[in-house]
Amino acid sequence: MRTVVITGGTDGMGAALARHFLTAGDPVVVIGRSRAKFDALVSALSDPSTAERAEFVAADLSLVTDSRRVVAHLTARYEQIDALVLAASFIRSRRHITTEGHEASWALFFLSKYVLVTGLAKQLRASDRPVVVNTSVPGAKADAIDFDDPELTRGFTFGKSNAQQRRANELLGILATRDNPDLSYVTWGPARLVRSSFAGDVGIGMKLAATILAPLMGQQPADAVRPLIDLIDNPAPGRAAYRGPKLVPLVVGPTDEQDATRLDNLAGTDEKGT
Ligand SMILES: NC(=O)c1ccc[n+]([C@@H]2O[C@H](COP(=O)([O-])OP(=O)(O)OC[C@H]3O[C@@H](n4cnc5c(N)ncnc54)[C@H](OP(=O)(O)O)[C@@H]3O)[C@@H](O)[C@H]2O)c1
Repeated sequence: MRTVVITGGTDGMGAALARHFLTAGDPVVVIGRSRAKFDALVSALSDPSTAERAEFVAADLSLVTDSRRVVAHLTARYEQIDALVLAASFIRSRRHITTEGHEASWALFFLSKYVLVTGLAKQLRASDRPVVVNTSVPGAKADAIDFDDPELTRGFTFGKSNAQQRRANELLGILATRDNPDLSYVTWGPARLVRSSFAGDVGIGMKLAATILAPLMGQQPADAVRPLIDLIDNPAPGRAAYRGPKLVPLVVGPTDEQDATRLDNLAGTDEKGT
């Protein structure tokens, strides 16, 4: 039995993973905003013991204070966490500021992951085979982050914002494995479109893709996450990147180590300042 924590575990691929590990007999903590979705997920599983092994933590992970509250709750309750899956997603094509004053996509897709990965480091170190699966599509350019303006107060575009988060999540792997060389840290994107809820506030092009293309051509979440289940069941220490089941090269830049430290200083300071 391994303790599995899944952000965005109420819908889409996160929910498919929650169903899988609950059915396999593992304790699973689901983090999301909707308790109703979590209750529906658990009650749809036939084994009555799943309810005892499933825990829901309600949180808006676009708020740093909520991410911190989740960490405080998990560290008080669990000495060991074996798998941390980062799959919360709310796609915004326009710049949006949270009530804490952060750019919302940077906060949800990077700051919350930073808070969870660093805040749960002790619990992950306690596991024999710890793994962090970060559903952040690998392959962004090594210089994608504007360290002077990571929340893109100037010249925000969806592409720039998305590339920054993806690069930051790859650098987060350097920090996490620096702290714990036994940790398996995987950045992962599906091989093709997945028929998920596509939670978000997006323009017409993305809406069409979600409502027309995904149902026609998209993979079912349960099929899309099969490679993730293998990666969680058989974690290999160190960093790796995957598209679907395929191992892809990590993007390596000349200043990765320094950039990771810079990001640590920036996110740590940012977090403390909230
Ligand atoms: N679908 C695709 O084709 C695709 C392609 C590339 C990458 N991905 C990546 O794969 C991952 C999973 O995506 P998906 O499409 O399966 O997701 P999804 O179906 O859109 O579900 C999103 C999940 O995130 C949770 N969530 C949204 N906003 C949140 C917030 N502020 N705080 C906490 N939880 C929040 C939702 O829970 P509540 O409703 O309970 O809040 C839900 O469980 C994401 O990282 C996504 O970027 C997906």
